[in-house]
Amino acid sequence: MSIIKKENVSDAVMQICNLNVFYDGKPVLHDVSMNIRRNRITAILGPSGCGKTTFLKTLNGLLEQERGVNVSGRIKLENADIHSLSMEELRKNVGLVFQTPAPFPFSIYKNLTYAPVYYGIRDKKKLEKIVEETLKLTGLYEEVAGELHKSALKLSGGQKQRLCIARALTVEPKVLLLDEPCSALDVKASAKIEELLKNLKEHYTIVIVTHNLAQAKRIADDVAFSQNGRPVETKDAEAFWEKPECEETKEFLKG
Ligand SMILES: Nc1ncnc2c1ncn2[C@@H]1O[C@H](COP(=O)(O)OP(=O)(O)OP(=O)(O)O)[C@@H](O)[C@H]1O
Ligand SMILES: [Mg+2]
Repeated sequence: MSIIKKENVSDAVMQICNLNVFYDGKPVLHDVSMNIRRNRITAILGPSGCGKTTFLKTLNGLLEQERGVNVSGRIKLENADIHSLSMEELRKNVGLVFQTPAPFPFSIYKNLTYAPVYYGIRDKKKLEKIVEETLKLTGLYEEVAGELHKSALKLSGGQKQRLCIARALTVEPKVLLLDEPCSALDVKASAKIEELLKNLKEHYTIVIVTHNLAQAKRIADDVAFSQNGRPVETKDAEAFWEKPECEETKEFLKG
């Protein structure tokens, strides 16, 4: 993915430079370079198997913990090489929400206090504030009022996904990565997530993988399209939809 044009580097929360990923010696991502811009939603598009999930997992260090994986290139978070951060720091700053919402099998309250407690917050008032704020941010506050101590597994699919986003927000990450967060949701639940993401970008930087072009058109500020693990075209959303330059992108957009 070519570096987004007209870019001021200080705009970039994450800088990815010549990233290559191999699974058991087989190349999956080839020479990916791009910047993730602050307070924007970047949509990652591409056919199934082109390496989108691999890319997200590389950004928060999850991939390098897998066996048989080889990663080369540089990834910086706020100008610091991610390898200079501990895994805890990296995970705290770069949150990842998966396609299938998987709350912990605990209460709603415990889902939202789990990470803050892990990172050392013990004060009950502070924890309650985090729970309240993240529930409000994700539009769940009214929906789960009086039920904070019920199992999170009893929520609907859309609510579970918003809870997983809320859980990721409890530690105030700099970047929120979402891997097809709406693929299992109906139109109404997806619309709530889209609205939520548009509101969140005021405070957070968001990267979303989606197969839904209409969704990407509604919410993305930047778009990155890749094929076979190779960067094809990365641009401001408006230019991407209106003036794609590469033949592969034009073909992809034609469906
Ligand atoms: N743990 C793994 N070991 C070996 N190969 C893997 C592993 N995970 C993914 N792959 C391979 O890497 C390639 C990219 O997979 P990835 O899951 O990143 O694609 P994707 O773009 O997210 O696809 P989809 O749109 O279907 O979710 C695929 O060829 C896949 O088979
Ligand atoms: Mg995937």
